[in-house]
Amino acid sequence: MLVLGIESSCDETAAAIVADGRTVRSNIVASQHDLHRPFGGVVPEVASRAHAERITAVTEEALSEAGVKPSELGGIAVVNQPGLVGALLVGLSGAKGLALAWNLPYVGVDHILAHVYAATLAGFDAFPHVSLVASGGHTCLYLASGPGEVKILGQTADDAAGEAFDKGAKLLGLGFPGGPALSRCAETGNPAAVAFPRSNPNQKPGDSLDFSFSGLKTALYYHLRERTENGAREITDEERADVAASFQEAICEILTEKLLAACRATGHPALAIGGGVACNGRLREMLTDRAGDVRVFFPPPALCADNAAMVAGLGHHFLERGERADWSLDVDPTPKRLN
Ligand code: KG4
Ligand code: ZN
Repeated sequence: MLVLGIESSCDETAAAIVADGRTVRSNIVASQHDLHRPFGGVVPEVASRAHAERITAVTEEALSEAGVKPSELGGIAVVNQPGLVGALLVGLSGAKGLALAWNLPYVGVDHILAHVYAATLAGFDAFPHVSLVASGGHTCLYLASGPGEVKILGQTADDAAGEAFDKGAKLLGLGFPGGPALSRCAETGNPAAVAFPRSNPNQKPGDSLDFSFSGLKTALYYHLRERTENGAREITDEERADVAASFQEAICEILTEKLLAACRATGHPALAIGGGVACNGRLREMLTDRAGDVRVFFPPPALCADNAAMVAGLGHHFLERGERADWSLDVDPTPKRLN
């Protein structure tokens, strides 16, 4: 079955065609980074307008790149939660319109569960496995037992890991989005230059699998304030690289140690990561180095960052088991705690 996926939960307008929940036939992403860069962060109203302007062209491109006609589709999968309410509404309204016009079934998909599915889409079929979704809005640790079937093991008590990267980059005077900018800056730095705090540094059996990043962000703020009167503006490029590398090291260590602790706690020696932060090279390197007997899987970066292929892939399983959304399906901006 061919499924059209649509994603518009934040600042990427995306559409994709996936066959049988496995084969990505097209994966089109129109990023809005240039529109939000002058503001240093995502402006919800700007995001909604840009989605509305682009969604038709992005969907047409996904179909034409895949060489698929609407009459060949088996259904549509659209992210309806969580995310920016106005942004989600554009994707959901578009999907409803197409489902009506083309007489197709459609289903709503949870954005975070789609990130979990990215590993399966990329060929990782070890179930159950521990899955980390680390993005700009969420940091969630799950035990995944099948497509869309997860039990939550831990989540952030405050900021998301991506948010820590974004805010850290802002404090260091780096660009938007912060994660890629900070990791680029960190390339020439010394990760041991500054001893930033780690929540739960010596994770023991029975310790919480929840995350916390706000203390780390505050530590960066005070480090820069103690060093200079005007924060990052006065430090040298060399020092900025050292601070960025040390900050990135702390985030990666928190994520790595929780992931491996979750494998020990659940007794399942397999893990995968997803979400924009899963593109981070240092995180991938550290997990590989410390995994020991744990099987570690990294989806390609294009499936980790926001995309609609992961949505079409997960939606395939919902459609295949007969799920159908009716016209009353609404958006829900808040994440669910899935037990
Ligand atoms: O999953 P995603 O594309 O969108 C959300 O659902 O939020 O994740 C975006 C987040 C942003 O915070 C961005 O700074 C971060 O992922 N990110 C990275 C990297 N690439 C993107 N963080 C660290 N290193 C990267 N290479
Ligand atoms: Zn995301």
